[in-house]
Amino acid sequence: MGLKKGFLWGGAIAANQVEGAWNIDGKGPSVADVATYKPNVDVKDYKKQVGVTSESIDKALHTKDTEYYPKRRGIDFYHRYPEDIKLFGELGFKTLRISIAWSRLFPTGEEKEANPLGIKFYKKVFHEMHKYNIEPLVTLSHYEMPLYLAIKYNGWSDRRVISMFRRFCDSCFYEFKDDVKYWLTFNEIDSVTRHPFTSAGIIPDESENLLQDEYQAFHHQFVASALVTKDCHKIIPGSKVGCMLTKLTDYPNSSDPRDVLTSFNKNVMNYFAGDVQVFGEYPPLVLNFFKKNNLHIEITDKDRQILRNNTVDFVSFSYYMSTVSSYDKGNLELTAGNTIVGGKNPHLKTTDWGWTVDPIGLRISLLELYDRYHKPLFIVENGMGAKDTLTDDKKVHDDYRIDYFREHFREMIKAVDAGVDLMGYTSWAPIDLVSASTSQMSKRYGFIYVDEDDLGKGTLNRYKKDSFDWYQKVIASNGKNLD
Ligand code: BG6
Repeated sequence: MGLKKGFLWGGAIAANQVEGAWNIDGKGPSVADVATYKPNVDVKDYKKQVGVTSESIDKALHTKDTEYYPKRRGIDFYHRYPEDIKLFGELGFKTLRISIAWSRLFPTGEEKEANPLGIKFYKKVFHEMHKYNIEPLVTLSHYEMPLYLAIKYNGWSDRRVISMFRRFCDSCFYEFKDDVKYWLTFNEIDSVTRHPFTSAGIIPDESENLLQDEYQAFHHQFVASALVTKDCHKIIPGSKVGCMLTKLTDYPNSSDPRDVLTSFNKNVMNYFAGDVQVFGEYPPLVLNFFKKNNLHIEITDKDRQILRNNTVDFVSFSYYMSTVSSYDKGNLELTAGNTIVGGKNPHLKTTDWGWTVDPIGLRISLLELYDRYHKPLFIVENGMGAKDTLTDDKKVHDDYRIDYFREHFREMIKAVDAGVDLMGYTSWAPIDLVSASTSQMSKRYGFIYVDEDDLGKGTLNRYKKDSFDWYQKVIASNGKNLD
């Protein structure tokens, strides 16, 4: 009973939210570098609020500002990674999930060779991890494609981007083959329709038919993911490649069959990216959705073969919250969630940002995913964004965060006891970083506090929160000591 020996405990971060150094050592701008500070994302229109326009991109390209564009500065992991990784080592991490910024290796995406300074940086990062026996888990695309590809090709809506991504991935496999065994292709691949720019480089006002471009981009990412899965297996024998899904668990608002049907239909779309990558083919209901919506997605016979022959080794996912659905939207109070707006569940509490807190939902998610896919699972993001207070003696008393994790771990272990094959758990995020959706620093997730405010002011010093000691004990006891 309980978690297996060798369970991969750790934490997860992404290059664009921590590194900073957005324009040095040859790095090109990425889609993240034009994302602005948006503390007030409107619950009712998430997509519009987090999106960009051609005009906003143009404006961003004319400034070097890092106050209003916080992902350009991150938490300066680019220079402070030895200190941060040392702290992760102290926490007892078995793994650390990072991403490799595509535009640090290929500034525009079109270069033929990788930038040696980019390679050097990640080599040093991996070296540092291995010093503390931390196994790297690497995401190849985490909301940070080269901006140039977004502007020139309207991102992933163009098939030519597949080969450029493949070149980037293959360079990573060759360069880091002795350093990295576990790889993820696209972070939250299902998010293309929720935020097409960050996820797929699609600039909505450049699209004549946005929905068509979004689903075509999905398809190109699926093909690219399958191709690089194949390459990875060939270049790094014994490597494991996973897909990465946003687990948006949704419940019917009531037992009214119309609510049940609405929630079911939502889940068909929530699962479709996982289905393609695990089963190697499109679900028939989704193909019919394309037809009904007059979407003409170019899927060639060769694509079908590539998808069929190169499915993933494991399924990883993020889980933060759940929603409820009703056939009659008037029945629902809306609340924010991870890249969505959904019906609020009256049985659950919410975080400072309105996301529901649903530990049992994590167990349900694990059971659903395992039952559906029969593949090893990996929780690669889970955590709570909260407002923390740094006391005068530089402490953070974050009992609320400990409570959040404790309840989620209890449910996670129950799922494992029910038979789920779980490879590991990486919290989002072990250290405070710039929020993906709002670019805030004040939405804090870490066990480690970073002294930096929303406008980038502060010493950038790192301080351990109360949750640091707690998580350290959890890891040391392999989940047995949750007190
Ligand atoms: C996931 C992303 O969607 O949620 C992360 O993969 C992100 O990049 C995390 O940071 C939490 O979301 P947010 O908007 O609170 O940072």
